[in-house]
Amino acid sequence: MKKIVVFSGSPRKNGHTVQIVKKIEADMSDSVFEYVYLYDYEIHGCIGCKACIRKDEIACPYKDDVHDLLVKLENADGIILISPTYSRVVSGQLKNFIDRTNFALHRPRLINIPMVTLATTDIGMAKNVANYLSVIGSSLGANVIGSLAVKMGKYYNDETYKLKIENRANQISKRFEIALKSNEDITPTLRQLMRFNVWKTRAIVSKEMYPNDYKYWEERNWIEKDFFTAASIPAHRKFIMTLLSKRLRKVIRTGVVYKD
Ligand SMILES: Cc1cc2nc3c(=O)[nH]c(=O)nc-3n(C[C@H](O)[C@H](O)[C@H](O)COP(=O)(O)O)c2cc1C
Repeated sequence: MKKIVVFSGSPRKNGHTVQIVKKIEADMSDSVFEYVYLYDYEIHGCIGCKACIRKDEIACPYKDDVHDLLVKLENADGIILISPTYSRVVSGQLKNFIDRTNFALHRPRLINIPMVTLATTDIGMAKNVANYLSVIGSSLGANVIGSLAVKMGKYYNDETYKLKIENRANQISKRFEIALKSNEDITPTLRQLMRFNVWKTRAIVSKEMYPNDYKYWEERNWIEKDFFTAASIPAHRKFIMTLLSKRLRKVIRTGVVYKD
């Protein structure tokens, strides 16, 4: 049995977002689901000292639940990252977790773990929130195989929309099951290649300032590589990345803040 961790940014354990996850769970009988509700945990807001980025995560002045939560994600076979839309963005507790684990964007740790992202809303912005969750997930190294944004007002009031969402949830469950069973490295999309390149270039450009980032990438032999895994990359994507890399390096070199 594969273990799916549902990482929830909602304070409501039986809320809208979890109700949609239950649809996915019902379609995935070969997996066990563990629900992790971030509001049950102590997650202090980031104070911007950057000790985790400059040194190590254990240098963080807060000894709360963030480390254990990140380990839960690392040990999952699959992840469903979910949030309600709060004032047009993710919930505060989830944002605190994302800020506190910013070092894991510099030093990605969820390599190739299949992930689904889901955001719900009453009326609007769920797509933006779901896209944001996907960007975070894939920057952490996860293999984001699908994303779902649900307008709950419409879901309850419009039967056609409800059916459309349920079909989409069903398609995502199927894709998720395939990804969980597959031992093959995924072929990265252009966006995944781009994200890999952004953080790799950042590690190279900020070598003096953040030597631990560079060491982390070097130890994993990622500096010379085009992606985290040995997956073959289609020639046209490789070509586009070669064209973009030079420009990217210039943008990041001028964009990085070299002093704290
Ligand atoms: C503090 C707060 C802020 C919200 N902000 C928005 C919003 O900006 N746009 C919107 O359409 N719905 C908003 N909502 C509604 C929730 O996003 C929506 O009901 C969601 O499905 C709740 O998910 P949950 O039951 O899993 O917590 C907000 C709700 C709360 C409590």
